[in-house]
Amino acid sequence: MIDLKGKVAIVTGATRGIGLEISRVLASRGCDLAMLDIQLGDGSSISEVAKDFGVVAKGYACDVSNTEAVEAVFKQIIADFGKVSVLVNNAGITRDALLMRMKDDEFDSVIAVNLRSVFVCTRAISRHMMGNRAGRIINMASINGIRCQAGQANYAASKAGVIGITKSNAMEFASRGVTVNAIAPGFIRTAMTEKLPAEAVAKYTAAIPLQSMGSPRDVANAVAFLASDEAAYITGQVLGVDGGLNS
Ligand SMILES: NC(=O)c1ccc[n+]([C@@H]2O[C@H](COP(=O)([O-])OP(=O)(O)OC[C@H]3O[C@@H](n4cnc5c(N)ncnc54)[C@H](O)[C@@H]3O)[C@@H](O)[C@H]2O)c1
Repeated sequence: MIDLKGKVAIVTGATRGIGLEISRVLASRGCDLAMLDIQLGDGSSISEVAKDFGVVAKGYACDVSNTEAVEAVFKQIIADFGKVSVLVNNAGITRDALLMRMKDDEFDSVIAVNLRSVFVCTRAISRHMMGNRAGRIINMASINGIRCQAGQANYAASKAGVIGITKSNAMEFASRGVTVNAIAPGFIRTAMTEKLPAEAVAKYTAAIPLQSMGSPRDVANAVAFLASDEAAYITGQVLGVDGGLNS
């Protein structure tokens, strides 16, 4: 039984989809949460995490592609909670288009939200974690950063970049007891995949060895393991949560 009592996690992109489920699963193991998102809505997803699991869960509105905003919010979170043990860089977007039609801002915005944010958020917490000689950083990559799809030059480049920064940061932080790993989800049922046409969903699902789409819970369970004391000897790795798709 993974026990995260006494730990504090920052989760980005935390108010829906995979990020919300990560928050709920970490909270179910006793972890307090700083839930960060560009939009907090009515705040109910955050208050429900606190109520359902009896942990401290606070929401922070922040665009992870804005460096000054991230630095200010991370300072605030450290002041509010006193410490941060886990950072989950989960926020991500898609702006799919065939390369010939892809606009500069469609490329740049995906790189800024999916990849540069990992650099900015990790830098904002690195001094704190290295000073504590403990920490877990978990970055959300994707199978599409490994085996790529047409129409995703921006997304594939961002997620391949997430794998690269994960491995470099793992080497840089290892001597200070901070581990850095990535998760590469396959095809997971969320708002991001609901946008896809039904024929595409049927085609992708047919190719999955375990024969179904994954759930946000499947990804969240992997995050909880990598955040735990049991994963202390694992760093610089990319864990596929994809039903065998990338085998
Ligand atoms: N759904 C899948 O099949 C799948 C597969 C592989 C990887 N992923 C990755 O998992 C992560 C979560 O995906 P999801 O399916 O839950 O997506 P989602 O669209 O359901 O949720 C993404 C969350 O990120 C937030 N967000 C977007 N831009 C932001 C910004 N600039 N600053 C702060 N927050 C921002 C959104 O408000 C939202 O709450 C992403 O990194 C995605 O690339 C998803």
